[in-house]
Amino acid sequence: MKSAPVVVVTGATADIGAAVVRELWSRGARVVGLYHRSRTRAAALAAEAEERGADIILYKVDFSRPAEARKTAFRFARSTIAHLGRVDALVGLAGYPAHRVWREPFEKLTPERLEGIYRVDTLGHVWLAQALSKEIARRRGSIVLMCSAAALIGDDLGIGFALAKSANVALVKSLARLLAPRVRVNGLAPGALQTSWLGELSAREREAARSKALLERYGDPAEVARIIGELTLGPSRFQTGQILVLDGGVAL
Ligand SMILES: NC(=O)c1ccc[n+]([C@@H]2O[C@H](COP(=O)([O-])OP(=O)(O)OC[C@H]3O[C@@H](n4cnc5c(N)ncnc54)[C@H](OP(=O)(O)O)[C@@H]3O)[C@@H](O)[C@H]2O)c1
Repeated sequence: MKSAPVVVVTGATADIGAAVVRELWSRGARVVGLYHRSRTRAAALAAEAEERGADIILYKVDFSRPAEARKTAFRFARSTIAHLGRVDALVGLAGYPAHRVWREPFEKLTPERLEGIYRVDTLGHVWLAQALSKEIARRRGSIVLMCSAAALIGDDLGIGFALAKSANVALVKSLARLLAPRVRVNGLAPGALQTSWLGELSAREREAARSKALLERYGDPAEVARIIGELTLGPSRFQTGQILVLDGGVAL
């Protein structure tokens, strides 16, 4: 189906990524998914695609070494366009593993840690945007990047993530200006979601995260996925440079 849109998704095999892939399938897209280590989850997603008659190609990438990651992004872009005939959109969800770092005290954050998060959450998406934006512009497509409510209002835990996600906010707005009018670029800023990340928190921290939201619950990955599907493929296409907050009413 050469006419079906092709969407590149980073972090495709994680909780939110897999929900986004399903949403994109339901909208008729072919998906090229990037992951880092989770071979088992990649195999499960490939099996699910086969069962549903949906399209996915999965590639293993590592954003943690920027110079190599940048070269890989350009090679990946060339071969994907050659193989599938087009790329319409990029959805950037990859993130440094939270379990290594979420509860690290602020005073203990090292240069290596902060740079490590920045390389995965932000720079990996800079390289892919460099490599894919011409093709996405040709298709009048879109870029959607994961940000976070913490990047907008701060947080007392996971500060390294808030810093990298705030760089993604700047990246969204800069790319929106740079790539207009052909490419729409938007970001999503979720609050606490019902994902395996919650397992990193104590019962008290989980309750605090839940009750911070006016709606007194966590967000569901499928809710995030629906918004990302809409931002990526439309039908509504009159939005660019925006960071959509989806946090149950924490940031007002
Ligand atoms: N959960 C929440 O409450 C919440 C709230 C706001 C924002 N977010 C953000 O939403 C995104 C998705 O969250 P999630 O909980 O579904 O995912 P996650 O468990 O944080 O997984 C992150 C994804 O990034 C990939 N990744 C990790 N290191 C990488 C590297 N060096 N190079 C390339 N890819 C790498 C992982 O691949 P492998 O699994 O294959 O290693 C995985 O697919 C993340 O950016 C997260 O920060 C989450």
